[in-house]
Amino acid sequence: MDVPQFDLTAQYATLRDEILAALDRVCRNASFVLGDEVAQFEREFAAYCEAKHCIAVNSGTSAVHLSLLALGVGPGDEVITTPNTFIATAEAISYTGARPVFVDIDPATANIDPRRIEPALTSRTKAIVPVHLYGRPADLDPILALAARQKIPLVEDACQAHGARYRGRRVGSLGAVAAFSFYPSKNLGAYGEGGALTTHDDAVAERARALRVHGERRRYFHDQIGFNYRMDGFQGAVLRIKLRHLDAWTARRRELVRRYRERLAGARVTLPHDDARDEAADYLFVAYVDDRDAVRAALAARGVGTAVHYPLPVHLQQAYAGLGHARGSFPHSERACDRVLSMPLFPEMTTEQAEYAADVLAEIAGAR
Ligand SMILES: Cc1ncc(COP(=O)(O)O)c(C=O)c1O
Repeated sequence: MDVPQFDLTAQYATLRDEILAALDRVCRNASFVLGDEVAQFEREFAAYCEAKHCIAVNSGTSAVHLSLLALGVGPGDEVITTPNTFIATAEAISYTGARPVFVDIDPATANIDPRRIEPALTSRTKAIVPVHLYGRPADLDPILALAARQKIPLVEDACQAHGARYRGRRVGSLGAVAAFSFYPSKNLGAYGEGGALTTHDDAVAERARALRVHGERRRYFHDQIGFNYRMDGFQGAVLRIKLRHLDAWTARRRELVRRYRERLAGARVTLPHDDARDEAADYLFVAYVDDRDAVRAALAARGVGTAVHYPLPVHLQQAYAGLGHARGSFPHSERACDRVLSMPLFPEMTTEQAEYAADVLAEIAGAR
């Protein structure tokens, strides 16, 4: 049996007529940049996230960047985040002129360890950016309590977690601002680049809207230097259609993950711990294994595609050598990156494919 790690083509087959009609509507209205479809998507996605505002932009990276700028983060500031993430989280911090300050993960969850944040705070700390890695909510209550005590805003990097719930509440509604990515492979993926911020705060929303379009509040009057971070009309149209399917796709992802977990119960693999009070959006299903690259090759030989998210934590990337970290700086993140393996997961995958992939992994890893 062949099981790709990821496949978007099957989904398009089910949406094709609707999508082509929506793209045609955008062409007929010539609303290629922002426009009606994007405005409607903003309303629908804000409601979905249980947030007051949504500002659609051209990528998740731009969404994190504008979130921080709208909160006033700038040169000389420090922003706390996890090194166990896609580099964009840290890059967006760097774009503002602030310095990313890494805090290691809780090895049980792979998300930022709330207990390690307080010792990393300084008088320059201007924001905390937890990442809901693999669609699984970070443990936000202790971080929110600390943030409120210290009056430091929290930006959720929800780029992988559309629709996840933390203690019953949607991610994207929990901090001062949240950032989402609609990169095509995401649970809610555009047909190109896309992203959005969500917030309850009117002033933050207003600043982000202006920064998205050249710092403009009135046409051709620019109060500050902004960006061209506008979302395409096509992406708004596609995302509106896909948003209607998101909950069903997420439920399917969760069911497939349940099967994986059942089949891997006795195997010599470690799975991230999910709190039973939360609902993960299961962007990826990862397992931690010894000798990961050999396990990957053995899975590939049996037709099971895998990926690695991510092979190197951000603090060890060449791009961040200037921060002066070395192996050993954040040992839990380093160990996670050495051992992590992303198994096949997408809503159109069959139950048989998931069971086969799980059984092959269990066989290769051996029994506990
Ligand atoms: C955790 C995280 N943050 C930020 C981003 C950046 O999003 P984008 O690729 O849309 O710029 C991504 C996307 O890959 C991500 O996974």
